Amino acid sequence: MKIKNVLLTGAGGKVGKAVLPELVKAGFQVRALEYSDGLEVERLKNVEIVRGDLRNSELAAKLIADMEAVIHLANVKENRELFLDANLKGTFYLLDACKQSNHIRQYIQAGSDARAGIYYYPHPFPIDENYPHSGYPGYYPLSKVLEEVMCEQFRTQYQLPITVLRFSWIHADDDILAHITLREPNFGVPVWQDWASTPEQKRYFQEGLDGVACLLHPGGSAGKRQIVGVKDVVKSIMLALNNPTAVGEAFNVSGPSPFAYDVLARYVSEKMNLPIVNFTVSEFNDFSIDMNKSRSVLGFNPDYDIFRIVDEALEFRRAGKKRPDCLYPG
Ligand SMILES: NC(=O)c1ccc[n+]([C@@H]2O[C@H](COP(=O)([O-])OP(=O)(O)OC[C@H]3O[C@@H](n4cnc5c(N)ncnc54)[C@H](O)[C@@H]3O)[C@@H](O)[C@H]2O)c1
Repeated sequence: MKIKNVLLTGAGGKVGKAVLPELVKAGFQVRALEYSDGLEVERLKNVEIVRGDLRNSELAAKLIADMEAVIHLANVKENRELFLDANLKGTFYLLDACKQSNHIRQYIQAGSDARAGIYYYPHPFPIDENYPHSGYPGYYPLSKVLEEVMCEQFRTQYQLPITVLRFSWIHADDDILAHITLREPNFGVPVWQDWASTPEQKRYFQEGLDGVACLLHPGGSAGKRQIVGVKDVVKSIMLALNNPTAVGEAFNVSGPSPFAYDVLARYVSEKMNLPIVNFTVSEFNDFSIDMNKSRSVLGFNPDYDIFRIVDEALEFRRAGKKRPDCLYPG
């Protein structure tokens, strides 16, 4: 395909700031969209920074002018007021501008496993790419489903060369520790404090004690889910970009395998010398993500299992690094 330049939206966000230097390293000329929410885009050579708001219907055509590819990451999360305009109109304006141009060779849309309902619904089999859209309750999953439906229609109606990458819950920095330990910072769902029902569980929050959460089903077995490290997300984007076999396809992008909360809790408990606090929860359904298609078609082989994600999170804390401001803790 020989794509040489690419528009990157959401370039100041969690994924955007991780993928931008890799695009530059790979030799792409990048036009990076920076939005005025304080998430600044790193100033790098071969990166043209454009400031703007995707809700502005005039912007998309200017952004894609001279571009050969689009990586659309910009998004607001669980925001009832903004998601229709920023996510749906924003995606529509970009797709429509691409349709009207004749120079976009690939459009990559950030999708999400939220579109398949993750732990909110029972999943007797690994979730593969053919699993029907079934977002869990909330505006964010609704948005991820509707963005994908729009992409599917632009592919069907206008043969736009679209690739959808459906990321699992993405972990960077010390996200996994913020998720699994009880004291702040807190990150992601479930929120342990909301599920504290026994006097022992409540005591941790009342007294500000720290511990490692372990999610159990009522029968006593540990909950299982699958997440992905941000470096693997970057790897998937780099494998999909400029790859003709990726065009017209959707791919799951997750870690190498699901993890069990008891295994994670034991590992973190030993490393941080913290007690394990069990949370027995009936609302959680195990799920895993089928990675066969992305492995065989993209050659995507994720490097970050749960232990490596934890090890890098511990290093992040040991180095005294600060978590970036988080617009949405999930
Ligand atoms: N973070 C995850 O766990 C996760 C999981 C699955 C899928 N995804 C998807 O991956 C993509 C990137 O996620 P992220 O975690 O990097 O998001 P993020 O919240 O860190 O970044 C979002 C970016 O969108 C930009 N933005 C917001 N409103 C805008 C507007 N009106 N105009 C222009 N830019 C605007 C922000 O400035 C920011 O750069 C999103 O589409 C998200 O849905 C993320």
